[in-house]
Amino acid sequence: MKIRPFLTEQFFALYEFTTPHVLASSDCETTSIAELLAMSGRDLQDLGSVNLGYTESQGNPEYRRLVAGMYENVNAEDVIVLTSPVEGIYLTMQTLVEASDEVVALSPAYDALHHVAEHLCGDFHTWQLVPNATGWEIDLDRLRSLVNANTRLIIVNFPHNPTGFQPDRNQLEQLVDIARDNDCWIFSDEIYRGLDVNLSPAAAIPSVADLYDKTIVLNGLSKTFGLPGLRAGWLVACDGGIREELIGWKHYTTICPPAPTEYLAIEALRVREQLAARNQQRVSANLQFCSEFMKRRKDVFCWRPPVAGSTALVEIDLPALSRHRAGSFSSAMEYCHDLAQNHGVLLLPGECLGCTGTFVRLGFGRESFSSALAAWEATLPPPAA
Ligand SMILES: Cc1ncc(COP(=O)(O)O)c(C=O)c1O
Repeated sequence: MKIRPFLTEQFFALYEFTTPHVLASSDCETTSIAELLAMSGRDLQDLGSVNLGYTESQGNPEYRRLVAGMYENVNAEDVIVLTSPVEGIYLTMQTLVEASDEVVALSPAYDALHHVAEHLCGDFHTWQLVPNATGWEIDLDRLRSLVNANTRLIIVNFPHNPTGFQPDRNQLEQLVDIARDNDCWIFSDEIYRGLDVNLSPAAAIPSVADLYDKTIVLNGLSKTFGLPGLRAGWLVACDGGIREELIGWKHYTTICPPAPTEYLAIEALRVREQLAARNQQRVSANLQFCSEFMKRRKDVFCWRPPVAGSTALVEIDLPALSRHRAGSFSSAMEYCHDLAQNHGVLLLPGECLGCTGTFVRLGFGRESFSSALAAWEATLPPPAA
């Protein structure tokens, strides 16, 4: 059986580097190597002295120590450094999931979070986020009904791409209890962690790694810290046996992290609070701007503002948007292709992330957000009187 196509990457491959007004990206504004090193007090020449030999498979000990410092109950030995965040999804699924297993995954989702597990397991179930009038909700009773003694793994991602949903602490603890009661693993993709700009500090939630032993956590520097070109990511796995198996699979993918990336990732981790703060401010300002836009255009969009993360999922009135154009669009996918090809505006169709209905994803992390939003607005029908 062939694995399902990675629609998000396929769609971005068509337009990401040639479309002038990018509104769809999930990463945050990036920085240059020179700026990063200046921030961490290093000279650019220091990078020149990095040796290009193989590195340690599990990752540089200082790198792992800095990562462990981001959690309450995690040691450096629990961390595996990756050659990209997405690699961690592949390693985890290969390690945990067998053909006889059931897997339950939050949906919609970043493609890899579904497709690799679905490819490997016998029985794959989606646990749907539920839209309401003003946002998104999880249905924990529904999760209880999906998980059973044969469930090997629950896959979640909070803050959530694409909806921007984040559970409160009580909901997160209930989710962990469901896993514990059924003795199953949780894969917690926390790559947008720290971008909870609208929450009070008291509402912040812990990493699942700090709550439950049978957890594998994914994180990296691509989103909150704005360094996707570094391809820096890590897994946290507190179970030694599973960690060995994860590293075993890594020997078949990338063996060890690239030395220049490790060097730069260590510097980035030293100034991680500064990097994250810049992007939190950016996301906050862009969200404010977007909320005003959505208020103006509630005739064609249903706006469910994100609680955390750098993305939101917007429901579009396809018939209204079609009427304004020569053709008529039968899907968000068609609408987004047209927008990219004929208007230079890039949105991600919800179909790529497994949405049913007509949704598009917006990303708030880029400096150019407001000008790209203006370019989108110029394509819309005149507001209903
Ligand atoms: C939820 C989620 N997990 C993992 C990744 C993978 O990150 P990277 O592309 O930096 O490997 C992404 C990227 O968009 C993502 O949205």
